[in-house]
Amino acid sequence: MRDVLPEEARRWRLVEDRLRQCLLGNGYEEIRLPVLEATELFARGVGEATDIVEKEMYTLADRDGESVALRPEGTAGCVRALIQQGLLYNQTQRVFYAGEMFRYERPQKGRYRQFYQLGAEVFGLPGPDVDAELIFLGLEFWRALGIADHARLEINNLGSADARARFKVALVEYLSARQDDLDADSQRRLQSNPLRILDSKSAATQALLAQAPSLSQFLDPDSRAHFQGLCDALDTLGVSYTVNPGLVRGLDYYTHTVFEWITDSLGSQGAICAGGRYDGLVELLGGKATPGIGFALGLERVLLLHAAVHADAAAEFAAAADVYSCVLEPEHHSWALGLSQKLRDALPGIRIRTHAGGGKLKNQLKRADQSGARVALLIGTDEIQSGAVTAKFLRGDGEQQTLPIEKLTADLKAYFETLDRGELGVRLSD
Ligand code: HAM
Repeated sequence: MRDVLPEEARRWRLVEDRLRQCLLGNGYEEIRLPVLEATELFARGVGEATDIVEKEMYTLADRDGESVALRPEGTAGCVRALIQQGLLYNQTQRVFYAGEMFRYERPQKGRYRQFYQLGAEVFGLPGPDVDAELIFLGLEFWRALGIADHARLEINNLGSADARARFKVALVEYLSARQDDLDADSQRRLQSNPLRILDSKSAATQALLAQAPSLSQFLDPDSRAHFQGLCDALDTLGVSYTVNPGLVRGLDYYTHTVFEWITDSLGSQGAICAGGRYDGLVELLGGKATPGIGFALGLERVLLLHAAVHADAAAEFAAAADVYSCVLEPEHHSWALGLSQKLRDALPGIRIRTHAGGGKLKNQLKRADQSGARVALLIGTDEIQSGAVTAKFLRGDGEQQTLPIEKLTADLKAYFETLDRGELGVRLSD
């Protein structure tokens, strides 16, 4: 579990804001969900035999003995909430959530025990048009973050639960006869979760699988047509993709379309966003049968990628303030606080830190410099009496100036507008 310190948190905010904007722009509504749910919800929803439920959940006994778990993912909780609140009857829903998830995994770069997901889920729409919408939304994310050249798309069709069950029987039969040639993990999965063998990393297992029955042989015509509909839509939209028959996903609720956005720029934790259709989940969790589809992206991984691609923007992230107000005599601190507040009211988005703790001007200017501010305002008895403050430019932007207070807002606005703040700074006219 990681601490996110202020400098890194600035990048988080930038990325989260952009992603949120894309979601709201597509007409998705935010839903805020509990972190703690009944363990049973995940056992049924995600699947007893999945790694997540078998080995990765943080579970604890509540005071009344009920087993509860820190959510390992967001879909099951989202479905639980919408069923419980009666929001799935004869209506469609497009919702998104953002928050921390917990999995007891081996920590490494891009894989943490507490990680942050941004997820989107759509209910009540069975067609491939909405599959395409969600995938296209992913591409909108990567474009908004300037990382689209570093994310590629893999898709697959898992078919109906029925087709998968028939395929599972055939696969188990084929592999059981060749059990000794399987890697140890796959031998274990042969009993518990045979489909996961398809994404085994073992070369020997993959060689066996090349001759094995394939899921595509078991797909029914409707499912094939659905998938073809998605492929056609992606072609029309100009979205590149690879069909990967080995993409089976580690959660049991998927049916038909599954997809992953992968980056090759982060080493082994390359899946930055993943999801798919789960047409049986609402019913499984006690609601009326309702189709659903969604995805979740891993914020840490997206941030690692953003930092790798936009490393040059690091300087922009170093600033905590735009303006630092120095207080020359302690008795003027309240006056300075009041002035900072007025400036913030007049210049939405501007960041002004007001000095506290007294001390010599030289030390205050040092603090101003550390804050990353471009301007220090010097406030003292002379300034207050004359109705003007002294502005000192800290980044070589010009000579010190005396600015009448009634013009201060306009002067600061003009000054910041002339700076090339790039995409990362405050936009004063917003
Ligand atoms: P998932 O593939 O388990 O799917 O997780 C989605 C994304 O979360 C992954 O692609 C990855 O970026 C990130 N992620 C997963 N585990 C970790 C970890 N330990 N540390 C850092 N990042 C991680 C789901 O969770 C589904 N609920 C997605 C979904 C929504 N399907 C339909 N709707």
